[in-house]
Amino acid sequence: MARQRPPASRRAPRSAAREAVERAAARTPARATAATASNPDFSPPEALSAPAATSPLPAAPRARLSLPWPLPALLVWAAAWAVFITLARAGWGVALALLAGAGLGVLGSVLGHSWWRRFMLALGFPLSLLASGLVSLPAWLWLLPLGFVLLVYPINAWRDAPIFPTPLAALGGLSKVIALPAGARVLDAGCGLGAGLRALRLAWPEAELHGLEWSWPLRWACALRCPWARVHRGDIWRASWADYQVVYLFQRPESMARALAKAQAEMVPGSWLVSLEFEVAGQACQHRLQAPDGRPVWVYAL
Ligand SMILES: C[S@@+](CC[C@H](N)C(=O)[O-])C[C@H]1O[C@@H](n2cnc3c(N)ncnc32)[C@H](O)[C@@H]1O
Repeated sequence: MARQRPPASRRAPRSAAREAVERAAARTPARATAATASNPDFSPPEALSAPAATSPLPAAPRARLSLPWPLPALLVWAAAWAVFITLARAGWGVALALLAGAGLGVLGSVLGHSWWRRFMLALGFPLSLLASGLVSLPAWLWLLPLGFVLLVYPINAWRDAPIFPTPLAALGGLSKVIALPAGARVLDAGCGLGAGLRALRLAWPEAELHGLEWSWPLRWACALRCPWARVHRGDIWRASWADYQVVYLFQRPESMARALAKAQAEMVPGSWLVSLEFEVAGQACQHRLQAPDGRPVWVYAL
């Protein structure tokens, strides 16, 4: 099922990467359509995928834990207060108990489906504690929860995607439509806590897995969680994708056209761009798989 690689001379010159991205963005629809039409070996196993030149398939049902607002906020705040009171009574000291409660709020903020909600989830507990006047702490200590939020969700990453993880079995069908040789380099662009890397490893155990993440704490946590992967801190848009056979993304809809343009400009023909949930609008894909929870996995041949 894997395509033959055309000669390396077809690669876009790296020195003109910016121009190439713009050119590729302009020619995106024609190029992908041509790739699909001229490569009969793209036809996917029917049970797994279908060509989607104009996205003919109905959107897959989304199966996400979705509590009606403001239930997630009430639950997260209550849990943060419970942690704070328990630890303060256990003698941890008010400052540490505050940080533990605030940390729980940041973790719980992934339940928010918009940035405002995530903010409210993460900062609701420390702000309510401050407003309650129950504790007196130095002013700078109140900034720590905000600093914690900024560390985990650096502003640069806010533009692209928060830390929703890829479900472990979501990418199981990939190896049936993309045959990678052992040692092929695969990048999870924006690897978060490593859930995508673990799902990729399940699909291609022989691949050389790389992760790139903007947030320092997430990068370190991911490296600890995925010691078999090469995890670096960096910006997925600045880093070169030229050396990867597959780039996997779980970002956001608005990023997808840019991602395909970058992939087409930098990656060798015969390599692949894979996206969980979000497609490149109006763009033909080679395969559309379905994760067990119903979300689509979009596969673009380059
Ligand atoms: C939805 S999460 C996906 C995490 C992981 N790929 C997974 O599937 O489990 C998106 C991740 O991309 C990171 N991210 C967003 N923009 C980024 C950028 N420009 N450079 C590097 N990482 C970025 C975020 O910090 C976040 O951890």
